[in-house]
Amino acid sequence: MCGIVGAVAERSIEKVLLEGLKRLEYRGYDSAGIAVINGDNKIERLRTQGKVRELETLLNQSPLTGNSGIAHTRWATHGEPSEYNAHPLISHDEFALVHNGIIENHDALRHFLREQGYKFSSQTDSETIVHLLHYHFQKTNDLLKATFATVQQLEGNYALGIAATKFPDQLIAVRHGCPLIVGQGEGEGENFFGSDTFALSHVAKQFYYLEDGDIANVTKKTIDIYSKDGKKVDRKLQTPEINYDAGDRGEHRHYMSKEIFEQSRALTSNLEGRLGNNCVLDTAFGLHAKKLFQEVRHVQLVACGTSYHAAMVARYWIEELAGVPCSVEVASEFRYRKNVVPANSLFVTISQSGETADTLAALRLAKKIGYLSSLAICNVPESSLVRESDLNFMTRAGVEIGVASTKAFTTQLTALLMFTIALGRQHQLSPATEQHLVKQLLQLPKTIENTLKLNNLIAEFASHFIDKNHALFLGRGELYPIALEGALKLKEISYIHAEGYPAGELKHGPLALVDKNMPVIAIAPNNDLLEKLKSNLHEVRARGGVLYVFTDNKSVVNENQEGIHVIEMPSVDPILAPIVYTVPLQLLAYHVAVLKGTDVDQPRNLAKSVTVE
Ligand code: M6R
Repeated sequence: MCGIVGAVAERSIEKVLLEGLKRLEYRGYDSAGIAVINGDNKIERLRTQGKVRELETLLNQSPLTGNSGIAHTRWATHGEPSEYNAHPLISHDEFALVHNGIIENHDALRHFLREQGYKFSSQTDSETIVHLLHYHFQKTNDLLKATFATVQQLEGNYALGIAATKFPDQLIAVRHGCPLIVGQGEGEGENFFGSDTFALSHVAKQFYYLEDGDIANVTKKTIDIYSKDGKKVDRKLQTPEINYDAGDRGEHRHYMSKEIFEQSRALTSNLEGRLGNNCVLDTAFGLHAKKLFQEVRHVQLVACGTSYHAAMVARYWIEELAGVPCSVEVASEFRYRKNVVPANSLFVTISQSGETADTLAALRLAKKIGYLSSLAICNVPESSLVRESDLNFMTRAGVEIGVASTKAFTTQLTALLMFTIALGRQHQLSPATEQHLVKQLLQLPKTIENTLKLNNLIAEFASHFIDKNHALFLGRGELYPIALEGALKLKEISYIHAEGYPAGELKHGPLALVDKNMPVIAIAPNNDLLEKLKSNLHEVRARGGVLYVFTDNKSVVNENQEGIHVIEMPSVDPILAPIVYTVPLQLLAYHVAVLKGTDVDQPRNLAKSVTVE
C-alpha cells in the first residue's frame, strides 16, 4: 500500500526521502514521487509511474534540493497508475500533499471545491484534500488550523504528509486509520515522518507512534503532537528494536527466498522463552492469561489472506486439543455482519503487519460488542493491532519484505499451536499430551531445516508448471487450509490460477476440471485421513490429472506410474504437518515464479501491508 516519507533538516533532504521510499518498496506500489521546498521557497516535484529506481533516474537527470520535503509510493485505488495520479499532489503551487488511505466522501468534496473554482489535475480522491487545505488556509492563514479544518471534513481513512511554501521549515503529519510515525532525527536539527520505522531507520532510532486523530507539527528542532480535539498531547518517544539487516538479501536473489530459508531461525526465536519444562508458559500470553484462559468458552479467530489460513488450521487444533468451540472468519466479512457473541468468547486476531485495515476494524468492532478479551498474534510490536489488543503474542519472524507471506505464516502457526496448548491446559489437555506436543515443537526448527533440503528437487518440478494455466491443491483436515495457502502462494507470485480444496469435495465439482493439463498437488502426510485422501488421488489419476504428492508415507501411491510424482517429506508428527508441509509449497511457488520471470517480491497489483479496506 502507499508509503509516506517526510523530512525537514538543516541539510538537503532529497536523498533521505529517496532512501525512505526504497525502504517502503516492499509494501507494494505502482508509482512514486517526491516534492521539496527549494531555496526559493518554491515546490519542486518529480513523479513517475513505475518503480523508485525510475524516480531515482529522474532525480539524477533533474536534481532537486531543499531542506524540507515529502515523498510517496502510490498503490492505485482511485485513478489508474500514472504520473499525473502520482503523489505528491499540489494546490496552487503552495501546498504539496501525500496520502495513504481512501477518502470516502471525495465526490462530495470535489463537487464543493469545483464550485469554489478549484481545478483538478488527477483522478485521485487525494487531490480533494490538498485543495481543501488551500481553501481553509485562505480563511485561517494558519497551517495547523487549516489542517484541523480540513481533516474535520474528511470521511475515510488517511495518513497525510503536508509541505507548504510559506512554511519551508515545517511539515505536518496526520494519522487517521492508516499508520504514520514521527522519527526524532539522530542528527542535530532534523526530524522525519514515515509509514513505518524501517522507512526511517537510516536517520532515526526513536519514534513517536501517532494515534488515530493525531496531527504532528514537525520542524527541524521540534515535534508537537495534537489530538483530534486540538489539544497538545504527550506521546511516548519509543526506541523499537529494528532489524537493520532486513534490507540485505544476502546470497538470495529475492527476499522471498531469503525469508523461506530463514524459517528455521525464525521458529527458534518464536519458541524461545515460551516453553517451560514440558509445558507452554501461559505468561508468554500476558500476566493474567492463565485466569483468562480458564474463563474462555469460545474462541473467535479473525484475519485476512495467509493469516486467515493460519486461523483455519488453528480451529482444528483448538477444538481437538483444547476442546473449546472455535469460529474462524475473514475480517472483511466479520466486520460487516451482525455478530452473535457467544458467552466468554475470546477474540483473537492474526496479522503479520498488525496494520491490515479490515482486521483492525474487526478488532475495534469486537471491543464494542461484548467479547471477553482480545489477543493479537502479530509480527510487529509497535503496530496498531498490538497497541489496541488486551493481550499480545509476537511471532518474532523478523521483518518480512516479500509480499508473499512465508516465515510470518509458519511462525503464526507455531504461535497458534502454543496458544492452543496454553488454552487447552485450562480445559481438557492432559499433561502427557502437553509434554508430547512441547517435545514436537522443540524439534520443529530442525525438521524445517531438513525440509528445506528439498529445494533443488522442487526447483526441478517447477519447470512442469510454467506452461500451465491452472493448478489444484488438495488436503484434508488441518491440511486443507495448507492446500489453500499453497494455492494462494502460487497464484499471487506466478499468476497461475490455483485453487485449494478439501480433497473430499473433489467429486462435488472440481473433478470436472481435471485432465492432463491440470496439475494436482496433494498434501499427504501420514495421518488418520491418509487412506481417505488416497481414494481422492485415484479419482484424479483416473481422469488423467498429473499428481504431485508430498508425503512421508511412500505407500500412498505407486510412484512408478506415469503421471505421479512423489516428493518424499521428512517424517513428522501429525501435529506439525501443517507447518512442515507449508515449506515445499512455498518453494514450489517461488521456483515457478522465478522461471516465469515475474516480480517475485512485489507481485503485480498486490501490497504488503493492506492499510485500506
Ligand atoms: O499483515 P496481515 O497478515 O494482516 O496481511 C494479511 C494478508 O494481506 C496477507 O497475508 C496476504 O494474503 C499475503 N500477501 C499472502 O502472501
